[in-house]
This record gives sequence, structure tokens and C-alpha cells, in this order.
Amino acid sequence: MTTTLQETVAYYNNLDPETEKRVDALLAQMTLVEKIGQLVQLNPFAPFDPDDYEAKKREAEEAGAPFEYEPRLRDDMEDLLRGGRIGSFLNVMTPKVINHCQRIAVEESRLGIPLLVGADVIHGYRTIFPIPLAEASTWNPDLLERASRVAAEEASAAGVDWIFAPMVDVSRDPRWGRIAEGAGEDPFLGMAMARARVRGFQTTGLTSGRNVAACPKHYVGYGAAEGGRDYNTVDFSERTLRDVYLPPFKAAFESGAGAVMSSFNELGGLPVTANPSILRTILRDEWQWPGVVLSDYDAVRELIPHGVAANLREAARLSILAGLDIEMVSTAYHDHLADLVTAGEVPEALVDEAVRRVLRLKFRLGLFERPYTDESLHDAVILQPAFRELALETARESMVLLQNEDNILPLSPDVRLTVIGPLADNRADMLGCWSLHNHPEDVETVLEGLSAYLPGDTWSYQPGCPIRDDRTDGSGIETDIPAAVAATREADVVLLVLGESADMSGEGHSRTTLGLPGRQQELVDAIAETGKPMVCVLMSGRPLVIPRLAAQVKGLLVAWHAGIRAGRAVADLLFGAANPSGRLTASWPRSEGQIPVYYAHKSTGRPAAESGTRQFAEAFKSVYMDEPNSPLFPFGYGLSYTTFTYANLQIAESMLGPDDTLRVSVTITNSGDRAGAEVVQLYVRDLVACVTRPVRELKGFQKIWLQPGEQRTVSFEVPVRDLGFSGLDMQYTVEPGDFKLWVGPNAVDGLEGAFRVCEA
Ligand code: BGC
Repeated sequence: MTTTLQETVAYYNNLDPETEKRVDALLAQMTLVEKIGQLVQLNPFAPFDPDDYEAKKREAEEAGAPFEYEPRLRDDMEDLLRGGRIGSFLNVMTPKVINHCQRIAVEESRLGIPLLVGADVIHGYRTIFPIPLAEASTWNPDLLERASRVAAEEASAAGVDWIFAPMVDVSRDPRWGRIAEGAGEDPFLGMAMARARVRGFQTTGLTSGRNVAACPKHYVGYGAAEGGRDYNTVDFSERTLRDVYLPPFKAAFESGAGAVMSSFNELGGLPVTANPSILRTILRDEWQWPGVVLSDYDAVRELIPHGVAANLREAARLSILAGLDIEMVSTAYHDHLADLVTAGEVPEALVDEAVRRVLRLKFRLGLFERPYTDESLHDAVILQPAFRELALETARESMVLLQNEDNILPLSPDVRLTVIGPLADNRADMLGCWSLHNHPEDVETVLEGLSAYLPGDTWSYQPGCPIRDDRTDGSGIETDIPAAVAATREADVVLLVLGESADMSGEGHSRTTLGLPGRQQELVDAIAETGKPMVCVLMSGRPLVIPRLAAQVKGLLVAWHAGIRAGRAVADLLFGAANPSGRLTASWPRSEGQIPVYYAHKSTGRPAAESGTRQFAEAFKSVYMDEPNSPLFPFGYGLSYTTFTYANLQIAESMLGPDDTLRVSVTITNSGDRAGAEVVQLYVRDLVACVTRPVRELKGFQKIWLQPGEQRTVSFEVPVRDLGFSGLDMQYTVEPGDFKLWVGPNAVDGLEGAFRVCEA
């Protein structure tokens, strides 16, 4: 379906006639140099100078004043601002500096066009929430919307009016460190999370009285980097682009995102930064989306090492022709665009078009009316008790219980516990990747969380070994496995707190081996020898490969990097004050060699008949000789301390026309003895189509809370037009034919039904 965004599009994208008049009037007064200035985004600071840092620190110490380092502005910054040669900043979150620069732009430049201040606020600004992969594991868009609003509240009080998030890249490769920043492997879930987060960021009524624009990223395909190596080549079919990677972006635009960040990667041989079919044909011609396209960091210059531009001048020409509006950090536009226009190699109309989009965003944000940030607000707005409470709620809901043999969890308060592992007494790594404005002192450790439940003399702690190895970890923890083993002597239960450090995921942090890092597995092996029952709290920025660990421990709780309330959330779950309700949003492989492993795969011509271990015996089927096809833990999976039963699957009408709505209901009962939440998931399969279709596709989900014994009928309504795909001619199509559906607790189990889509 090639729809435009015109009907559904919200605030920033609605072409408001008054704004358009203001844009035209301003554009008419601008010189070419001033126009290009609006397309330039820089960091205003001079490179970090350690001598300057030390001198200022000493000064503060001598004066007995608190020290907060303010880097120096670039020497040329004020002149650039006065000359109207810069339109926006990135990653400056200091209201005083922002106001200083804004004052020059607004009061001393010829046309007084305000700066736009963009920043990476990926899972919170000061109140750090769980990493986005964890946030998505809540399967609770409403919660994400509220968390994103908190991020916008705080960031806006720090002077930010453009948040470089949500990251909506679908990723099916846990080697890729940036899987931590997104919603996981599924486009449908990704769309729901994208909508929620855009709404949260762009909410009105912020304390600052200002507005914030979202910037979904990285458009597009970045999550499919070959081998999971960051920045690597991407090459998939147009059908995969349209059916898997584009939908979360479109959902973000439909929810009103007024800007997008293009991705670093090449796609089918052409870097996106210079790719007109991605930046122009799809965005402008097909979707008629009027928002701003911002490059990623230095990506215009990177056209040179990509090998499609010989120099910066060519890089500028290719990018502007392709449809890239703002260049982040590199200076191809600043240095060469005027000359390219004068030489007739770039029509000025293209520059005008880009500038028009930038000005439109600035007007719609209200920057002309309200350019300055109230510097007194920051301290009052950040870390409010309600924000910290929401961070706790999100952390609790984000954690996923993967195993609970013999109901070892929740722990009883009189358990004698030995806590072991390098992440139990750790603050910094709870913050995860991409928390630029973090303060580790805001974090509650797991040990602090546990101490709320356990009297001091019933438990002990031994780190056992550092997260990585003794040389690289930096924690000061010495490996002492015998001491850890000895500490378990009196324990009823051993609680292992293991996993990755924050800097093992995120940008530029891909890995090829996804087991426990350092000597942690050796530590577990040694404790396992004692025969004591073990529970593991596992922290990571990605799905890990842990078949050995999973076979050793009775309880396994995935806690991710859960933000400032990580410790409390872990303790609340371990002791049953909260009931785990997170579900995986990316499959956990059995081995790295299975990657990519994801639930919405195709059938192949020789599908395995079984998905268990017996499939090894299936000769000449699409199987491995040494590993099942299935992941260790599938998409959608997660346990609770209670149980839920599914019954009475009803399909209101099993013969549907293309304009009808599929109506499905199921009765869910909390059949255990605790209150808890279930994530009810609806999947479909289009059995025969003109092109191959995934074996299952998520088409609906609902998170519901039930008291023990409570029963609820959950209903789904899916418009038949949402069951389509890119057909032979690459047009969106819903084909008549038979479908299967499942309603269940994950991508593998569930009650099964069927329906048929008929000709119009
Ligand atoms: C990242 C973006 C980020 C930008 C600005 C880049 O390296 O890929 O996600 O928004 O830097 O900090």
C-alpha cells in the first residue's frame, strides 16, 4: 500500500498555512550562505583540553566551589553564529552554553534565526531508564510513552529541543552492539514502540514550556549490518526493506515525528547518505513526508572511505542531490555547497527545499517565540521522585524470567543467600550504553536492593571475578574463585549476578562470541560443583548465548542494563514484591552459528519437520547437523510467578473481505496463586501467496494484569489491509487465500485457528 502520510500525520508534519507563509517570507530574505548555514550541524566545543580541565578543577577546589566542567567553545564559533552559518548543535546539554550561543544567533546574526539543539537522549537524560531493548521487553507502549515523556521533560529543561531517538532499527543479529538501542527483531512490535516513544518525546505541556521534536533513526537498514559488525555493508532485497525495515519509520512519521536521521550503512551498493531512492523516492514521492533528514555523525565525509566520492566537494553534491537536508559534524556543505550552487552543479531550488524543511521544524517547535532556556529549571526538573518511581516500574517490567525450576523464585525472606558475581555491587554498568548525561551515584546496586529485604547477617557477597578479564575490566575486582566457592558453604541459594559491562554493547561494540565474558563461566562451573541451587540475574545489552549457564541454574532472570533503579527492581522481583512480566523481543540463540535466528523466518522448500533435537536426523532438510534450528528462548517468551491458561479461541468471522476486520478473542485465566501480567500475542501466517511469507508474523499483542483466579476475554481487531506485503510488483498487496493464526504466550506456543481472505 503506497499511502501518503497526509491523513494521519500529526503536528510537525501538518503543513500549516501560517507556518508556510513565515517560512517563505524568511527564505526570501536569506542569502545562499545563510541558507547553507541552516543545513550545518556542529558541536560548538573545542577539542577536549586536559590542561584546561585540570586548571578549572583546581580553581574550583581552591574556591571550595562544586566543579562541573564547561568545555571551551571553538574559537570560530561566535563568528559562525553571527554570520548565520550554523543551524543546529548536537549533544550540548548545558543551558548556559546553549543560551549564550542562542543569544548570538538570535540577537547578533542578520536574520536572527534560532539554533536547534539536538542530543542523544536514548533511554533517559538524567533519570536513566533501562536500555531500549529492555524497555521494549515490557511490551507496554503506554509505559514507554511515559518514560519518553520524562526524558523529554529533563532534556528540555537542559535546553534540548530535538531528541535523536527513538532508534527504530529492526535487528536480528545480537552480535551487533546496537541491538541494545532498539526494540528487537520484529517490525510490528517496533512500530508500536516507535509510536509510543515519538508521542512521549513530542508531548505538549513540558515544564520548560518548550517543545521537543523526535528524530527516529537510523534510516534505514542499519540493523542488518553484515556479520553484526557495526557500520558494515547492508544488502537485502527491496521486499525486505519494505516489509521489515521501513515500517517502524513510517509508524514514527505517522505519529508525528518531524525529522529522521539517515544511517551510516550502504544499502545495495549505495550509502544511504547519498541514496536518492531511500531519501527522496520513498520519503518524498511515495510518502510525501515533509520532515527534515539529518545525516548521521560525519556520514557525509564517510562517502569518501565508502568509495563513492573522491573528496568532500563530491560528497556534498551527492548528499544534497540525494535529499539529505542537514549534515552532522563533517563540513562538506559548509565548505562546498555554495560553490556547487554557483557552478550550476546543484540547483539552488534543492537547497531551498532543504532549508524550508529546517525552518518549518523551527517554527513548529516555537523556537522563534521562545529561543531561550530557563537556566534555573534544570536542577528542579531532573530526578524527581515520580521520575525515579517510573524508572523503577519500567525496570521491573523490562526484566524477563527465563527459567524457574522447582519454583525456586521468588525467594523467601529467610533464605540464607550468598551473592556472587561482578555485577552485584556495580553502579556504572547498570546505566547501559548511550547514557550521555548519566551520574553513577544515582544508581542503586543489586546489593543495595537486596538489603531492603535481607537482614545483614543472613547473606554474604563475593565478586568472584571481574566482568571481563583482570586487565581490561577496570573495576579493581581481583579474580578469587576459591573465595567465592567458600562463601557458598552456609548458603541455601547462590545468587549469581553476571553478564556484560555497559561498554560491551552500543555503537561500535559488536562481538563475535556472546557467552559470559571473562572468567564468569568458569566461576559458575566452580560454584556448580558445590551442588547448591543457583539463581542467575543476567545483565546484558543484547541476547547472550548461554546454553551451558541455562543448564546449570534453576532460576534465570534477564535484567539487561536496567538504569538507575536496577538494584531495587531486581530485588523486588527476586523476593516477589513484583511479578516478572517482561517478554523477549529478540530470540536468544543456542550458538553464534545460528545467527540470524528469528521467529518470522521463511519456510524454505525443505523445512525441518521438527524443531527439537530430533531434527538432526532429518536428512536433506534445512537443518544443522549439530544444533536445532530453534533458538534457546524464542521471541515473545518469558515466565511469571503465576500461570495463565488460554481457552476458547473465537474468530468472529472466518471469511473476510479485503476491507473487513479480523476479530479474534480468547479467554485468559490466571490459574496460579499470585497476581501477574500476561502478554497475549496474536500471530498469523499467510499460507500461500505470490511470494514467500514468514512462518509467523506478530499482528497484535496486549498486556493484561489478572488477580489469581481472574479470567478475562481478550479481543483483537486486525484490519485485513494490515495483513499484506510487497507483491511481485513491489506494491503493497493483501492477497486472497487461507491464513492460520495463533494466540499465545510467545512465538512458538498458542491456540491455533484459521480464516480466509476472499476477493473483494
Ligand atoms: C550515532 C547516532 C547518534 C549520533 C550523534 C552517531 O555516531 O550513530 O545514533 O545520534 O552519533 O551523537
